[in-house]
Amino acid sequence: MIDSKGCFITGTDTGVGKTYIAARLIRGLQNLGISVRPRKPVESGCSLEDGCLVPEDALLLSNTAGNLEPLDRVCPYRFAAPISPERAARMERRSLSLQDLVAACQIHAQHFLLVEGAGGFHSPIASNSLNADLAQALGLPIIIVAADRLGTINQVLLTAEAVINRRLDLLAVILNQIEPCTTTGDMNNAEDLQIWLNNVPIIQTPYGNGTISAESLEVIRPLLERLTVLN
Ligand SMILES: Nc1ncnc2c1ncn2[C@@H]1O[C@H](COP(=O)(O)OP(=O)(O)O)[C@@H](O)[C@H]1O
Ligand SMILES: [Mg+2]
Repeated sequence: MIDSKGCFITGTDTGVGKTYIAARLIRGLQNLGISVRPRKPVESGCSLEDGCLVPEDALLLSNTAGNLEPLDRVCPYRFAAPISPERAARMERRSLSLQDLVAACQIHAQHFLLVEGAGGFHSPIASNSLNADLAQALGLPIIIVAADRLGTINQVLLTAEAVINRRLDLLAVILNQIEPCTTTGDMNNAEDLQIWLNNVPIIQTPYGNGTISAESLEVIRPLLERLTVLN
């Protein structure tokens, strides 16, 4: 467990917009006067530049937060192979334990801890450990990010069930428009999911151009306000 307020960003998959949404949460919280410390405790698929492994997600989160800490602290564990961190560590014969990742997420209690997982809630993240184990060990409330497209209802409900089974607080589901047009015809995942997740805010975030626009912050405002009053 950790002492600070915070949240854990997970997803229904890799590439659904966890980092994209995390960056907007960081900026939105900072606009509300909250001092955010992002963590991407382990990142695989890092590119090699001048002999250093560059963690793109951690870099984006750190830049958005204003680079208040060294990148080594935001993301201490890095792997080149674009596979799960657990397997990447195993292939390099390096040890990566849940305790290592929990330790990497320790921050001063007065700051807000925003953790981005790796892959989805049941993706392996360390030796014998899933993202779910990390979230549970940290005791953080969860935000599920999903790409808003056909098939999403099933993926969100499976993930939500796993979160609830861990007795973690499900703060919100973000249905993210990762392509200009991924919704078709009469589809309305937000409306349909609300039937099953009746107490959980479901937020649709629009396709964007990379900049953190005022509009993209406006749609997540209810979530930002909830984050500021967490216990
Ligand atoms: N709402 C959005 N509008 C435009 N591009 C997006 C949006 N959400 C995500 N993307 C893009 O989709 C790709 C995958 O998003 P990313 O946040 O890296 O996913 P994850 O962290 O879940 O792997 C990135 O190139 C990101 O910039
Ligand atoms: Mg990411």
